[in-house]
Amino acid sequence: MKRRVGILISGRGSNMTALIDHAAQPDYPAEIALVVANRADAAGLSAAAQRGIATQVIASRDFGANRAAHEAALDAALRAAGCEFLCLAGYMRLLTPWLVQRWSGRMINIHPSLLPVFPGLDTHQRALAAGVKIHGCTVHLVTDGMDAGPILAQAAVPVLPHDNESTLAARVLVQEHLLYPAALAALITGMSVPAPAESGLVNPCISG
Ligand code: GRF
Repeated sequence: MKRRVGILISGRGSNMTALIDHAAQPDYPAEIALVVANRADAAGLSAAAQRGIATQVIASRDFGANRAAHEAALDAALRAAGCEFLCLAGYMRLLTPWLVQRWSGRMINIHPSLLPVFPGLDTHQRALAAGVKIHGCTVHLVTDGMDAGPILAQAAVPVLPHDNESTLAARVLVQEHLLYPAALAALITGMSVPAPAESGLVNPCISG
C-alpha cells in the first residue's frame, strides 16, 4: 500500500514534479496526496494540478508575523489529506521547532550542495567561488538547524572548467530529480538509497 506524502513548495516545483512523476509508477512506495504552496504565484501549483494532484495555497503573507498560525494551518491541511511524510521542495520558509517536532523523522528536504558545505542560499555561486571540483545535492531529514539534519542521500557532479552558476545549477538539478525520489522511497521502505549508478552519483574527478 502506498504511503501518503505531502509536498511544500514556494516556486518552480521541478523537484515536486519529479516526485509526482515517480510516485505515479505503480511500484513506487508513495503517492503524493497534497501539494501546498505558501505563495499563490508558485509555478509548481499548475504543474501539480496538471498531473491531477490536489493543491492548496496557504499564503504565508496572510498570516503576517504569526508563523505559528501559518504552520498550524499547514499541518492541519496535511493531516486532513492523510499525509504521513512531508517533502520540502524549494520551500523558502524556515520552520519553527513545533512543526519540525511534529514531523520528526518524516520530513525531508533537498538542498543543492554536498552538505555540510554550503548550507543556506547561493550554493552554486559559493561552490564556484570556493573552487571546489565536486559539487552536488543532499537529501536530509529536517531538524531545527538550517540544512543541518541527518543526511539520507547525496549525489555528486563534477565542476567543469568553464562552468558558471547556471550551467552548474543545471547539472546539479538533473541529479536532484533522481536523488529526491530515490531518497523518499528509501526512507519509506527503510532501505538504503540505490547504488551510485542508479542515483546518479559520479566518481570523484579532477578538473580545472
Ligand atoms: C532546488 O535547487 C532545491 O535543491 C532547493 O531549491 C531549489 C528548488 O527548485 N531547495 P524547484 O522548485 O524544485 O525547481
